[in-house]
Amino acid sequence: MASVSNLGYLVLGVSDLDAWEHFAVDIIGLQAGQRVAGESLALRMDDYAQRLLLEKNDADDLLAAGWEFDTDEQLDAFVAHAAAAGVKVDEADAALTKRRRVGRLFTCLDPDGVAHEFFTRAERAPAHDMFRSKVLKSRFNTGRLGVGHFVAVPKSVERTDAFCKQVLGLKVSDYARGEMAPGVVLEIAFFHALTGRHHSMATAKVPFPFKKRIHHILVEAIDPNDVGLAYDRCTRANVPVAMELGHHPNDQMFSFYVQTPSGFALEFGSGGVVVDDDNWEVRQYAELSDWGHRHHPPARHEPRAGE
Ligand SMILES: [Fe+2]
Repeated sequence: MASVSNLGYLVLGVSDLDAWEHFAVDIIGLQAGQRVAGESLALRMDDYAQRLLLEKNDADDLLAAGWEFDTDEQLDAFVAHAAAAGVKVDEADAALTKRRRVGRLFTCLDPDGVAHEFFTRAERAPAHDMFRSKVLKSRFNTGRLGVGHFVAVPKSVERTDAFCKQVLGLKVSDYARGEMAPGVVLEIAFFHALTGRHHSMATAKVPFPFKKRIHHILVEAIDPNDVGLAYDRCTRANVPVAMELGHHPNDQMFSFYVQTPSGFALEFGSGGVVVDDDNWEVRQYAELSDWGHRHHPPARHEPRAGE
């Protein structure tokens, strides 16, 4: 079966584009790309023309996950496989393909109604416009590993896990079950794509009603010092910290979590492992973090005057 290479982009529906631009560019370290005033803002993390696409939308949630294929032949084989599995996959029209800045694009919905997009030939920024972060010491860990990851909170974890495995062709990395607060147990399944980022997507079963489609997205820096530097920028700018600095035992990510202007979290990490399928054993972890990641009560992002 033709495999997804990696999670190449995320499309987020955000109600406040200006707050997001300040958060993403000045604090997290992405670079503003193409902008359509009042409608959308592309954010860069490397030589791709866009890695996060913010679209003005009151959902304040994930709108689409963009899965990259290495060749058109692999994309065609995947689309045929998904259709044979009973999933309605549509070829995107020229306008959507242009907005995503890719060569070819197909779309489908998962069992929760979340859009998944499948593409090849992502547009790169011109050579004279190399990626520059205002604040990063190193760079983002992207390339063949893709944009990062997202953790979905589906209405039916069982149905979405089956979609991940049987339609997307992702492989299970491991499972974790642990308390995020006393008595509040979270169960997470982690899935990786062909190029091996420990997880491009995970699904979380939470024991309470959850308003968003995602718990968080992750961006990863090469240098762990960038995690500490980003943590300092967040606390200085009064961005609510959702989870303090800590470490995950499964993907080995050293990270912290902050609340984005849309309410869901962003994990800023470094040091995540890459799965080698020939030498990988799926494990069940009994804790989500082996140190740190102390949880803060959720709070609204309220930028201070002048931010
Ligand atoms: Fe994460």
